Amino acid sequence: MSGVPVLAIDGPSASGKGTVAERVARALGFHFLDSGALYRLTALAAMKAGVALDDEVGVAALAAALPATFRDGMVWLAGEDVTDAIRAEAVGEGASKVAALPAVRAALLDRQRAYRQPPGLVADGRDMGTVVFPDAETKVFLTASAEARAERRYKQLIEKGNSASLLALVADMQARDARDTARAVAPLKPAPDALLLDTTHMGIEAAVQAVLDHHRTQQGN
Ligand code: DC
Repeated sequence: MSGVPVLAIDGPSASGKGTVAERVARALGFHFLDSGALYRLTALAAMKAGVALDDEVGVAALAAALPATFRDGMVWLAGEDVTDAIRAEAVGEGASKVAALPAVRAALLDRQRAYRQPPGLVADGRDMGTVVFPDAETKVFLTASAEARAERRYKQLIEKGNSASLLALVADMQARDARDTARAVAPLKPAPDALLLDTTHMGIEAAVQAVLDHHRTQQGN
């Protein structure tokens, strides 16, 4: 399936890449891979099964056989609707931990690559352009300051009726960035050929347009 176009959209959490990637996929009529959801599902599966998040062999076995289904914007794990559960902060925290284990990343590799189907794929994650789809024709690395990202997450949480502390969110964001950037396997970093897009002062629509414009330019090359 290497002839199928891929747009790899990477960046830190709450950089807006999930929303941007989904809208770009819709605009192009392409498939969409939310790779973070696979790490979140793996963490949730481990928590439910009582497998320690640093038990590399145990968590990798769960990741390799993840009974997950994505349908109409909903996510199911072994027949249970976990759409909201995987978005909980504790599960995001767990996802960041299991994502640092090489065997877990290896176990999820083929599953991610299987999403590359005609007419094309928009893949959202941390290592889409560097590891999973290094031959992607379009690569974008979305960033925003930790403060801007914490503020976006804060608004999302408050809108959903949760309580949140902005200061704690900035600290969490910085801790997660540090772990994702410092890990030995597939660290969070832009591919050398990625377009860097700082969305600190940019709205979603402008970011979507910038990605679509860049994709069009890449196709002309
Ligand atoms: O994008 P997200 O917040 O849903 O991702 C959850 C965690 O999964 C994040 O802390 C890093 C990890 N992750 C990763 O290591 N590689 C990916 N391709 C996607 C997510």
